[in-house]
Parts: sequence; C-alpha cells; structure tokens
Amino acid sequence: MTWEPIDFATEHPYQVLIGRGVSKLLPEFLDGVERVAVIHPPGLAFLLPAITAGLEQQVTAIRVPESEASKSGEVLQGCWEALARAGFTRSDAILGLGGGATTDLAGFVAATWLRGVRYIALPTSLLAMVDASVGGKTGINLSAGKNLVGSFYEPFTVIGDLDFFETLPDSELRSGMAEVLKCGFIADPAILEEFEADPGEALAPASDRQAKLIRRAVAVKACAVSADLRERTSEGGDIGREALNYGHTLAHAIEHEEHFLLRHGHAVSIGMVFAAEVARLLGMIDDELAARHRGVLEQAGLPTRYPDGAWLKLREVMSLDKKTRGSQLRLVLLEALGAPRIVTAPPEGLLAEAFLAINEI
Ligand SMILES: NC(=O)c1ccc[n+]([C@@H]2O[C@H](COP(=O)([O-])OP(=O)(O)OC[C@H]3O[C@@H](n4cnc5c(N)ncnc54)[C@H](O)[C@@H]3O)[C@@H](O)[C@H]2O)c1
Ligand SMILES: [Zn+2]
Repeated sequence: MTWEPIDFATEHPYQVLIGRGVSKLLPEFLDGVERVAVIHPPGLAFLLPAITAGLEQQVTAIRVPESEASKSGEVLQGCWEALARAGFTRSDAILGLGGGATTDLAGFVAATWLRGVRYIALPTSLLAMVDASVGGKTGINLSAGKNLVGSFYEPFTVIGDLDFFETLPDSELRSGMAEVLKCGFIADPAILEEFEADPGEALAPASDRQAKLIRRAVAVKACAVSADLRERTSEGGDIGREALNYGHTLAHAIEHEEHFLLRHGHAVSIGMVFAAEVARLLGMIDDELAARHRGVLEQAGLPTRYPDGAWLKLREVMSLDKKTRGSQLRLVLLEALGAPRIVTAPPEGLLAEAFLAINEI
C-alpha cells in the first residue's frame, strides 16, 4: 500500500497521509516541537501508547467527552486551561485523535491557543478521515445550533491511519461511506464503480478497496477546498466548495428533527436520494442516474427513505439552512454524473413531490 500523500494546495498547503500504520510517521512532523498535547475521547485512550511511544516530546493527554458533547465552550476552556498548566508555547503542537467531533474541537483549540499553533489531525473515523479533518473547518456547537463558533484553520498535516478503523462501529463506517459515495456522485464516478464492484470489500475496515475509495474521496475534497477554502457563494454551474453540500440541505433538516441521534452520513444518504429525485423531476438527470443513487446507497446499508408526513416540518427547517444565504432555498443538484450545480428556488410543489417519491420508488 502506498503512503503517497495527497496535497491540499490552499492558503497554507499541507498533505494528507492515508494508509495502514501511517501514524508511525508522526515524529517526522514534530521537528522543533517541545511539547505535544493529544486531545482525545475516553474511548480512544487505548491508542495513545502506540501513537506517543516513539516521541521525544513531553506529551500531555487531554481527555474530552465523546462525540458532540466535546464541542462546547466549557470543554474548549478546559483544553486551554490544560495547555496553560503544561506551559504550552507557540512552538508546541496539538494533536486531535478521534472522530470528526474531536478533530473539530482540537483544530479550534489549536487555532485559538496563542492565536494559532501547529495542529496535526489523526482521524479515527471514516467520516473524519474523508471529511471533517480535511478541509480546514474547525469549531464547536452552541445550544442555538451546531458549528456556530469556529474558524478556518488548516492542519499542519493529516495522518489517516487505517489501522484505527479496526474498532470503528459498523454504523460509523457506513456513515462515512455516505460521504465517500457523495464524492463519487459530485466529482469522481470511479468511486461509484470501485464501490459497486465489491460493496462487501469496500465496507471491510481497512481493506485495499476501502483505502482506494478513501484516497479518491480525499482527492475530491482537496480539489474543492483548494479552489475555494472559505466556501464562497456559488452560482449555477460555477460551483466551488458548496458542491460538497450535495444531499446536505435535507440531511441537516433530518438531523435536526432526529435531535442528532441519526448519524450524519445516514441523513446525507436520504438527502442525496431526495436531491436526485428533485433533479430527475426537473429534467436534469435521467431515471437511471436517480436509481443509481438508491442502489449504491442501499448496497452500503444506508437509509434512503423517510416518513412521508415529515415534509412540512423538514421544509421549514430547510429554510433555516446556512446554504440558504438569503431568503431563497438553494440546492446542490446534479445535471450529470460528476457535474453539480446550484439551483435556486426550485418549485415548492416539485420539492414536495420529490420527497413523497423517495418512499415510493
Ligand atoms: N469540519 C468539517 O469540515 C466537518 C465535516 C463533516 C463533519 N464534521 C463534524 O464531524 C462530527 C462527526 O464526526 P464523526 O461522524 O466522526 O463522529 P464522532 O466524532 O462523534 O465519533 C462518533 C463516535 O465514534 C467514536 N470513534 C471514532 N473513531 C473510533 C474508532 N476508531 N474506534 C472506536 N470508536 C471510534 C468516537 O469516539 C465517538 O464516540 C460532527 O461534529 C460534525 O459537525 C466536521
Ligand atoms: Zn457531511
């Protein structure tokens, strides 16, 4: 397996390394660093000895709550206090070891400590590896909403060790696979072909096929982010980072309605089937491409339907979505495989029809 890095050519260029055992390269990225803080949830403390064994630096482990509970102002302050106690200076480094919640928090800690210190992401979930830890968005939640406070802060490097996946729960793996397949629909159809050729192997943790899929998905994100780090407002087919929001408008509304108990990728799966149906009804894509959405997502064991009666409530929540950028609804839709565009204010009747259709097909 290759550890050939994937380049993110953004404001502060960095590389993403992906492969089994790649975390043993960590010391190479700590040149000149005296102290290292590893921010991690309790459930992943067992990975610490292997990661820190070869380090010459003084190591401070900062344990934070699991998942979304860690993305709070209180936990953020606790991390700052821990860094202060350990005497962290500008030439020290912060490592984020965990799923996307942990890497979002750790990146924000690094962005804010002394106005920014070296940050290295060690994603342990598929979603963090292909999405949260790559792309430079960091942040925490407020009771008023998710990710309301944060910054664009690019990592020094991202080290995606596939060996970490051995303990990753199946539903988390499938959640991340939804984002991988999204990259297939919006930019790189070879991802879909690779997955469809053997879904079982694609879902087997750290398999060669999965590694190939991850590399391709990260390359799609690298391309979108390199061209548009700060997510400008796209127009029509002139689409930058917003393409990554494919399926996310309905998904965010579903997550909200499910009180975030449904995994993100599962909601994105339903959202992509909906987006495909809207595009089909608008005459932008054919029946075959719409059907391929459901087919491949079901092969990945992801949900593709949602109760009919929920539409009006979901539509109301969609109006609050950040991509609305103004009063009109803006959706990322495909006009062909690999060709996303922004569609503004699609007809309301057609949206309702598309939502009903996702349960009928
Ligand atoms: N910054 C971005 O651009 C961006 C993009 C997408 C998502 N996100 C954020 O990512 C978060 C979701 O990330 P997630 O889906 O990874 O969830 P998560 O971080 O909540 O992790 C889910 C659970 O799996 C556990 N886990 C992670 N890796 C494991 C492993 N290898 N073995 C055993 N358990 C493991 C975690 O500790 C946690 O309990 C959300 O907060 C979301 O807002 C950010
Ligand atoms: Zn997402």
